[in-house]
Amino acid sequence: MIKMTEKLDSLMDELKKVHSETYYHSLRVKKLAHRMLRRTNRLGITSYNDDEIGWICKGTLLHDIGKLFVDNSLLTKDSSLQANEMDNLRMHTRLGAEAVEGELCGKEYEFVFNLCRYHHERIDGGGYEGKKDIPMYVRIVSICDVFDALDSDRVYRKGLSRETIFKMLRENKCGHFDDALIECLEEIVKDID
Ligand SMILES: [Fe+2]
Ligand SMILES: [Fe+2]
Repeated sequence: MIKMTEKLDSLMDELKKVHSETYYHSLRVKKLAHRMLRRTNRLGITSYNDDEIGWICKGTLLHDIGKLFVDNSLLTKDSSLQANEMDNLRMHTRLGAEAVEGELCGKEYEFVFNLCRYHHERIDGGGYEGKKDIPMYVRIVSICDVFDALDSDRVYRKGLSRETIFKMLRENKCGHFDDALIECLEEIVKDID
């Protein structure tokens, strides 16, 4: 059970009301990230302890919370976004990181902040801010985030097949991810199916 502060709880409630698609996406990504962390720990790719896994799960639930502070019409638009609208939507990482400020402290704050702020960064610098040194837990959540986005039906398209998604990930069509993480995710998804 993940304990939020009163403010973070109410932000999640608000997200459920205002944009339930993002809310349920966050729940699915959290579930997937939790499975990933258990597997990467087992394989020796990571060695997160229970506290750290809890913080990562909390940060995963909150990763898109900044979408509450961008114009809702951008989230529901059924055609592609204009450049200025895209810039606006991209602000959700900074706005989300700002929203968790003062709510958490120490390492927990660091983990949650990094997940909100950097989940769209890629190891080749191909993300929103061009940051390359991204903590492993952010990379794990990012690949789960992309998987869920491609796997789910969106207003503008149906969810893609597993085969297409993993082909896209391997061909770096959604930014660059670690090969070991792509492999790990593929195994997990096979287990779920
Ligand atoms: Fe996001
Ligand atoms: Fe997301």
